Amino acid sequence: MVNTSGDGMGEVQYRPLQADDAVALQDLHAHLSDETVRRRFLGMHRELSEVEAHRFADVDHLGREAIAAVHGNEVIGVARYEQTAVDTAEVAVVVRDDYQRQGHGTRMMQILLDRARHADIRYFKLERLADNNAVVALIGRLGLERSRVSITRYGVTAETVRIPDM
Ligand SMILES: CC(C)(COP(=O)(O)OP(=O)(O)OC[C@H]1O[C@@H](n2cnc3c(N)ncnc32)[C@H](O)[C@@H]1OP(=O)(O)O)[C@@H](O)C(=O)NCCC(=O)NCCS
Repeated sequence: MVNTSGDGMGEVQYRPLQADDAVALQDLHAHLSDETVRRRFLGMHRELSEVEAHRFADVDHLGREAIAAVHGNEVIGVARYEQTAVDTAEVAVVVRDDYQRQGHGTRMMQILLDRARHADIRYFKLERLADNNAVVALIGRLGLERSRVSITRYGVTAETVRIPDM
């Protein structure tokens, strides 16, 4: 468990997601604005079903990993990867609107990058809306280098970034 300094409301903690977080994931999803849902799922996806929540919470901490940001009893953000090839994983991240721009996306991704290195994953594939400046800034902040051609189709940009060695 890694902690960050808190405000008056207590600390936000970062930890691997667990199977029993499924309900907390549904609660997180219900708290996201339509715009944040659209950016995370590349389209509208207003409800996270029980089946989806259980699938998201089902991580093996190697080929499928997810880091949660937790405030009190609430999961307020998740960064995840799913391995798709020997050295490559698809990555996604979301932070609840009322916790955005406070460094939580960066912190979760830093922890996720360490986990990926341990699993010998060298590349993250990312799909984002073409105008998603927040995730572009996040990639820059993490020092991830664009390694393969970005493709933009129907407003969605797909790109591959290389995970820097330690
Ligand atoms: C992308 C996202 C996870 C970033 O989380 P966050 O906790 O707000 O990010 P941080 O506070 O760690 O900030 C990371 C960088 O993004 C920048 N940023 C955050 N929100 C931004 C916004 N709305 N517009 C422009 N830049 C933004 C920050 O300024 C920072 O860059 P800097 O170091 O150059 O200042 C969050 O905006 C989000 O949940 N978006 C919706 C889901 C999404 O787009 N996911 C990515 C596709 S899977």
